Amino acid sequence: MDTIQQLEQEFSQKLSDLTPETAEMLRIEYLGRKGKITQLLHRIGELPPEERKGYGQSVNALKQKVEAALTEHSSQSGDTRSQKSNIDITLPGVEPEQGSCHPITQTIEEFIRVFQRMGFEIVDGREVETEKYNFTALNIPIDHPARDAFDTFYTEKGHLLRSQTSTVQVRVMENRKPPLRIIAPGRVYRPDEIDASHSSMFHQVEGFMVDEKITFADLKGVLRLFLTEIFGKEVKIRFRPHFFPFTEPSVEVDMMWVRKQITSGGTVQKSQWLEILGAGQIHPNVFKAAGYPKGKYRGFAFGLGVERMAMLRLGINDIRYFYENNLDFLSQF
Ligand code: PHE
Repeated sequence: MDTIQQLEQEFSQKLSDLTPETAEMLRIEYLGRKGKITQLLHRIGELPPEERKGYGQSVNALKQKVEAALTEHSSQSGDTRSQKSNIDITLPGVEPEQGSCHPITQTIEEFIRVFQRMGFEIVDGREVETEKYNFTALNIPIDHPARDAFDTFYTEKGHLLRSQTSTVQVRVMENRKPPLRIIAPGRVYRPDEIDASHSSMFHQVEGFMVDEKITFADLKGVLRLFLTEIFGKEVKIRFRPHFFPFTEPSVEVDMMWVRKQITSGGTVQKSQWLEILGAGQIHPNVFKAAGYPKGKYRGFAFGLGVERMAMLRLGINDIRYFYENNLDFLSQF
């Protein structure tokens, strides 16, 4: 009985300077499998039968006190924890910032939607290409200035970073027979001096249509419809004769661009023709490189610069904004 009392005093003392970390240790010390109280209970068998009842009751009473004390202590310290942490769980959370597609991606996706409505299919090209698909198969002769290292990034063993999406033309035609209606958006690379309108990487959308009777009229119709969808009914375009080795005849398409300019004398409207894409009837040598039978197919191809069009539509005057990852700029779109 003395031991029980002693133990009770000892416990009260330890309880008074208890921290949340030591509470579990105290529980084990007294109530654990080899704890002090547990041991007292085990010793009941050593006693003469008539003393067992009283002893057992005392030990159990102590056990209950200890349990109660520890439970109370832990619920109190639980309270203090939430009081200390200053967290007001009724406040609204921090909303994660929402991302959005890059304006270039948005522009490409919009172009794709228009062409898909005209039955075009989307094809992925390669950014690392061979000279064959970037030049040779496109009827670009070996001494053409575009092949110069000043105009093309060469990598290794006849490979290069494609300088135009036209590479996709022969890649597709080699494996498939007409009718073809293909759109191929993607990155192209040119070692240009970087300024407000030039970048060493930019995006193009290639398009081509091949069948037995595709004419220049189809080219005009498709491009006019596309540009009307993107820029509205009032869009004014012109087809200007041009030269590309892989199309014949070739054109550049210009669009009339009207800008309001604020001057000291008031607002004036300035309009100018802006070149927006290259196009033409696919050259017979391209069909030949693709392995098509001579004279069987005809078609057109075009390639447009995405940055140029996005700049016009969004009113951006420097191409470098697109690549600087500046969220103040990007979050506007
Ligand atoms: N690949 C040409 C360029 O990058 C554009 C083009 C594509 C012209 C298809 C004609 C036909 O300038």
